[in-house]
Amino acid sequence: MALVLTAGGAGAAVRPDIWPVPARALAADPVLEARIDALLARMTLEEKVGQTIMADVAEVTPDDLARWPLGALFAGGNSSPGGTGLVPRDRWLAAADAYHAASLAGSGIPVIWGTDAVHGHNRLIGATVFPHNIALGAAGDPDLVRRVGRAIAAEVAATGLDWSFGPTLAVARDARWGRAYESFGSDPALVARLAGAAVEGLQGPVEPHVPGRDFLKDGRVIATAKHFIGDGGTTKGIDRGDTQLPEVALRDIHGAGYPPALTAGVQTVMASFSSWNGAALHGHHGLLTRVLKQRMGFDGILLGDWDGHAALPGCTPGSCPAAMNAGLDMFMAATDWRGLFQDTVRRVQTGDIPAARLEDAVRRILRVKIRYGLFEKPAPSLRAAGLPEPGAAAHRALAREAVRRSLVLLKNAGDLLPLPAGLRVGVTGPGADDIGMQSGGWTLDWQGGTGRNHLFPGATSIFGGIAQAVARAGGSAELAPDGRFATRPDVVIAVFGEPPYAEMAGDRPDLDFGRHDQGRSRAMLDALKAQGLPVVSVFLSGRPLFVGPELAASDAFVLAWLPGSEGAGVADMLFRAADGTVAHPFTGRLPMAWPEAGDTVRIPE
Ligand code: GLC
Repeated sequence: MALVLTAGGAGAAVRPDIWPVPARALAADPVLEARIDALLARMTLEEKVGQTIMADVAEVTPDDLARWPLGALFAGGNSSPGGTGLVPRDRWLAAADAYHAASLAGSGIPVIWGTDAVHGHNRLIGATVFPHNIALGAAGDPDLVRRVGRAIAAEVAATGLDWSFGPTLAVARDARWGRAYESFGSDPALVARLAGAAVEGLQGPVEPHVPGRDFLKDGRVIATAKHFIGDGGTTKGIDRGDTQLPEVALRDIHGAGYPPALTAGVQTVMASFSSWNGAALHGHHGLLTRVLKQRMGFDGILLGDWDGHAALPGCTPGSCPAAMNAGLDMFMAATDWRGLFQDTVRRVQTGDIPAARLEDAVRRILRVKIRYGLFEKPAPSLRAAGLPEPGAAAHRALAREAVRRSLVLLKNAGDLLPLPAGLRVGVTGPGADDIGMQSGGWTLDWQGGTGRNHLFPGATSIFGGIAQAVARAGGSAELAPDGRFATRPDVVIAVFGEPPYAEMAGDRPDLDFGRHDQGRSRAMLDALKAQGLPVVSVFLSGRPLFVGPELAASDAFVLAWLPGSEGAGVADMLFRAADGTVAHPFTGRLPMAWPEAGDTVRIPE
């Protein structure tokens, strides 16, 4: 059924008075506002409109900024400086310096550059790849989330960037959704408990009136609470679909993460592609302006998603006054940034976009840039000079800790786990030695990828971690993708699960893993059982899935989610220490209900 989108204009009524008023992170600052007034007074209409346009770095050169005074740039899921290839850190730094210099020479207002570092600097070879949010939800610890956010911020800033489009505050209510793994889980209280910490990790804590506070200092980045609002509640988990709920449920379930994020001082919010009761969020004046800005007091940048404005009635990628009039302050102009720039200038000239609305949008953008210290900061590469290298040992150790604390033990017949360390271990399965599969989507490429361990220098696959663990205790590990071992092992560890995916590519009609997997993993497990071998299954997935047959064929079954580059964290949980003690007991808890059948899907509202 084609979803007839309506712009969420006046017709989509909301009751702002029933929404919370979070404690303000930053008091109004008259000096800052006066500084904005002075900037606005000297800006041309084109310079003001330029601030509201964010374009893809793969489509914009530094020279373009002289003619087109853009406010922001983004590196989307498949974009890098100069195109779509993967480039080293120095190329990112050189590009950031070039854009910075060009924007200063042009409008005099430095450009800011964001990317989706949703579990690490996802486009950088050698970056630390942390477990996805669903795993951090299983760990359930705000301090861990804060420390992970800080490390991610440092690795993003180390490449000269200013901004990460995270944390995702979706409350994933239907595991069929292809973005469930970007959520901390299905429990609003869990998302609320982690949201503020995620923002503080990226931006630094807001400590008003504390001299030298860390907020948005070098090594920190601007954060984005996304996708406002209801992204995780669409019918059947259809990505970018329609969330059909009463307003109170929308507030209490899908709005849960936003008050703590605002109180933590999040400086940007990204509008959702999805709709609420048929009204598209990108055009929803009630929710974007009356609720988020006026009632909840959000005073930062409301950013559109990737051409998300174009889906509104009467809009195209190059023209959408409705979105700005609804409350969007900055367009993520993915496919026609020049057209959108020119059209928006015309729309302000004709009054289709009130000048006051443009003024407010630009004021918000300048407010964030000034809070970020952008006018005082040196060139990006100079800011990055003292920061840890992407992939630094301390960051990898932190990611390994996060892996350990996220694993959930679903079955452990006869207390098989943790295994004695000195065993002869057989390892098999498609995920055994594949860092791309264990990392999931948003990893190097938008959709992620498999069979390319060479693109993860410094990382460890799950097999690599197991081999290290058993070698330390005098045991041995043999990798046999076909499950046929040269020497009969004492135990087999089978690593399998979902291939990487992102967004709508991950949407599924049901939760029956065996059907999606065409029974391959079950056949593998049955063949191992036929050899009379004890089997430990390690399951890689971005969400709960029905794995009844695979569970039955396993002696132990560990949910590893999408652990990222530090596969050694999995081995840490599977083996005792050399002295026989249990160094790391399983503490991970399910962040979403685990289905008892393939068709068990939506959590009742
Ligand atoms: C995507 C996602 C959003 C991401 C943006 C830029 O479509 O919806 O989460 O930040 O585009 O890559």
